[in-house]
Amino acid sequence: MPRLAIFASGNGSNAQRIIEYFNEYPAITIDLVLSNNADAYVLSRAANLGIPSAVFSRHTFYETNQVPEMLKANNIDYIILAGFLWLLPLNILSAYPGKIINIHPALLPKYGGKGMYGMKVHKSVIAAGDYESGITIHYVDECYDEGKIIFQAKCQVSESDTPETLAEKVHQLEYRYYPEVIDKIVTM
Ligand code: GRF
Repeated sequence: MPRLAIFASGNGSNAQRIIEYFNEYPAITIDLVLSNNADAYVLSRAANLGIPSAVFSRHTFYETNQVPEMLKANNIDYIILAGFLWLLPLNILSAYPGKIINIHPALLPKYGGKGMYGMKVHKSVIAAGDYESGITIHYVDECYDEGKIIFQAKCQVSESDTPETLAEKVHQLEYRYYPEVIDKIVTM
């Protein structure tokens, strides 16, 4: 019975979608929401959905073992990143080899790497004149957006798209596919 923790830094709409998806499917549980940002809206979403949450500082995350210890104390099997902006430290990566998954709002390897997140991604896709964008779900390693790709889905970019309308198309792909792909990976 896999137990999952979600890491998120901001809004948390994907986190909510994932929690709601697995609420229907009690063999897989979301047991913890963790954030580096005490003001992140994902914390309110977790509270409303009855999921325990915790916030950690940069010092705690990078200089102590408190986060992996909390994960182990909660018997967490998989870590799901959903809009989490910090690189994972080695103590977490080595405790969860092949068990950490991220979603990126573009077709990696394009538009990935440090600083490439949120609306910056969609602005770059439109500025480049690309005809398509999409989502990439991938395993997480010690570099930004470079782990092995698990799944991609595409959407068209039309001439009338703005970064905002493209972000909305990409979000719809995220909501549709991220919970399903997580489901497949953790039950493999
Ligand atoms: C998503 O677009 C995801 O691909 C990226 O960060 C965004 C998070 O959005 N990694 P939300 O916080 O889930 O609303």
